[in-house]
Amino acid sequence: MADLYAILIKSWNDAQKEAFAIRKTVFIEEQGVPEEMELDEFDPICQHALAYENSRCIGTARLILPIEAANRQIARIGRMAVLAPYRKQGVGKSLLSALIKLGISKDITQFELHAQLSAIPFYEQLGFIATGNVYDEAGIAHRDMILQTPLSQSP
Ligand SMILES: CC(C)(COP(=O)(O)OP(=O)(O)OC[C@H]1O[C@@H](n2cnc3c(N)ncnc32)[C@H](O)[C@@H]1OP(=O)(O)O)[C@@H](O)C(=O)NCCC(=O)NCCS
Repeated sequence: MADLYAILIKSWNDAQKEAFAIRKTVFIEEQGVPEEMELDEFDPICQHALAYENSRCIGTARLILPIEAANRQIARIGRMAVLAPYRKQGVGKSLLSALIKLGISKDITQFELHAQLSAIPFYEQLGFIATGNVYDEAGIAHRDMILQTPLSQSP
């Protein structure tokens, strides 16, 4: 049970060992995502949120901050994974909230993500809205989702 857990934001250098262990268990072993698709060129430039129960890492997610001037205020969230025994206890929500808070502190006004269909209700709890058609990614059905922050509505 994740009675007491902490969320830390780390660079890829500091996060990779623990983040990859979680992603391997959840995406590669549980969901059958091909191992060669799991790590990509974005990991080193992302901010990574890690959830800890005591000293054990139990969940992870990442935030890709904009690198193109034209999309300065749009960031992408991804690789959201919580170990199965710790799900439905608020860990995923805390990871997502931490990344949204981090993005807002960097003037992000819109967050985007590719949601597995089964995870859409989870993201909706945080205010994300599904857009567009269903498509395949790594053999799993996905839809795009977006969240616009209150900042994006200010004049
Ligand atoms: C999706 C995932 C990260 C959610 O993490 P979690 O720790 O279980 O989520 P939380 O406990 O913080 O849930 C937050 C809210 O969403 C709800 N929720 C979580 N998963 C849900 C689901 N699959 N369907 C419906 N509601 C869900 C919870 O009930 C909770 O609602 P509440 O605040 O009213 O109680 C986790 O299920 C997971 O790792 N799944 C496997 C990997 C995956 O599919 N990742 C998403 C890739 S797009």
